[in-house]
Amino acid sequence: MELSEIIEQHIASIRLPEKPAGLYQPIRYALEGGGKRLRPLLAVQACRACGGSVYDVMPAALALEMFHNFTLVHDDIMDRSAMRRGRPSVPARFGANQAILSGDAMLTLASQLALGVPQKVVAPVAAEFNDMALRVYEGQQLDTEFESRRNVTTDEYFHMISLKTGALLASACRIGAMVGGADDRTVEALGDYGLQLGLAFQLRDDWLDTFGDAATFGKPIGGDIINEKETWMLITARHESHGELDAILEEDLADDEKIHQVRRLYERLRIGERCDAAAAEHHALAIAALDRAVFADEALREFFVETAERMASRKI
Ligand code: IPE
Ligand code: IPE
Ligand code: MG
Ligand code: MG
Ligand code: MG
Repeated sequence: MELSEIIEQHIASIRLPEKPAGLYQPIRYALEGGGKRLRPLLAVQACRACGGSVYDVMPAALALEMFHNFTLVHDDIMDRSAMRRGRPSVPARFGANQAILSGDAMLTLASQLALGVPQKVVAPVAAEFNDMALRVYEGQQLDTEFESRRNVTTDEYFHMISLKTGALLASACRIGAMVGGADDRTVEALGDYGLQLGLAFQLRDDWLDTFGDAATFGKPIGGDIINEKETWMLITARHESHGELDAILEEDLADDEKIHQVRRLYERLRIGERCDAAAAEHHALAIAALDRAVFADEALREFFVETAERMASRKI
């Protein structure tokens, strides 16, 4: 069986109580909604690359996917996003109160799942997991604060995304390596790989939010522009457009028109291509970090290289 199928089967077999349905049904809905399952895949492959087994790391892999889905449920409330993975988001489908509470339950379930790793690594894995969770909240807080600022720098942007997105991808790799019995240097190297992959991943996500195809991407296009998210693209366009970008944002325009005008400005400044180039730099740094990792199974090195390459041109 393919590894992705094994992960999918394990996700499907997570047991949840039936009642109250209002609490558990949104969790099922979130988990059944598809998604790339990138975080559990990274954890499993990191573990295998370091000499561990799929089954030893699976509880942590499931915990990471559960945690990721929890962050998405709350993120969709915060970002006022009605669509995810091509269907109504959890808050759009079940309401904000249900999304808050089901999200809380997902966080608790994720913490419980993580405790299922082999006894000798429970303490370090739990510490890594909790530390990562705080970084994600810090990043989400900064992301929210940036919506009402017009002077965010690209350095601040990279710091924010290293927390909200990089921390989880880094931890997926680190936890996988830890369960696999890797030495500290390899844990660090795989963590650096995950962090750089995460920076590129968020740059690409932001690019797709503006230039992607809603049907493929599964999320509405232009939401970041409407929410005035401080993305690399927005910050760069602001610096280079001499007030034009902020004038568009301040104008009282219909959403579609605002998105259209910002996109036209981006096209004139070749912001999309340059955002892609910035992501490519981080993919290269991710691949370079692999040189510092000692693998028990050298054949799996290629998986990490190939994943970085695949993510660079992803459309979903
Ligand atoms: C979405 O993550 C949130 C970001 C970090 C940009 P994914 O793009 O991995 O979401 P799914 O799980 O595949 O839907
Ligand atoms: C990723 O940022 C956020 C999380 C850490 C949950 P986004 O807000 O850009 O993610 P999407 O685009 O809604 O998936
Ligand atoms: Mg967000
Ligand atoms: Mg969002
Ligand atoms: Mg996004």
